[in-house]
Amino acid sequence: MSVVYLAVGSVTGTAKAVSCALKERMERAGHQVVLDEAASVAAMNSSGCDAVLICTSTTGSGDLPANILPFYMELEEQFPLQNGRPFGVISLGDSSYGDTFCGAGALMEERFCELQGSAPVPRVTIDATETVTPDDDALFWLEEWMEQALA
Ligand SMILES: Cc1cc2nc3c(=O)[nH]c(=O)nc-3n(C[C@H](O)[C@H](O)[C@H](O)COP(=O)(O)O)c2cc1C
Repeated sequence: MSVVYLAVGSVTGTAKAVSCALKERMERAGHQVVLDEAASVAAMNSSGCDAVLICTSTTGSGDLPANILPFYMELEEQFPLQNGRPFGVISLGDSSYGDTFCGAGALMEERFCELQGSAPVPRVTIDATETVTPDDDALFWLEEWMEQALA
């Protein structure tokens, strides 16, 4: 059994709904999940997590949603080294935005790499123009991530 800290970034609720599906699946597999829609370094640390999962949409022009931006800033300021702790990023976006497609997920992935987290499975991008079932796509990716990242 592992403890997973699941940080959610969402504007209109899609990434939140996907996160709830992820939580349910991980709990069914016997893991404990701390889902946080107002993620912080303090909450991540106090969760005692074995792995970190980030599920975020992209807003503006490649920007992080307002509810996960403070977490991103804290990670830069406090620089909590991950020492190889596994993480994963599920990135929601819309390819019609061109170069900024899924930019927020890319930012979070870059940050956790800088903090020396390990990404056993590369970030998944979920394109709103290509799927109407983002949770199915995320759950497919999750199976591999759980196998690689969780004990
Ligand atoms: C105002 C606005 C700006 C957006 N900007 C981007 C963007 O720069 N890049 C991208 O990939 N998707 C962008 N999107 C698409 C959203 O990320 C996508 O629709 C996502 O599924 C929304 O998830 P949410 O409901 O959890 O916020 C934008 C959507 C809106 C409404």
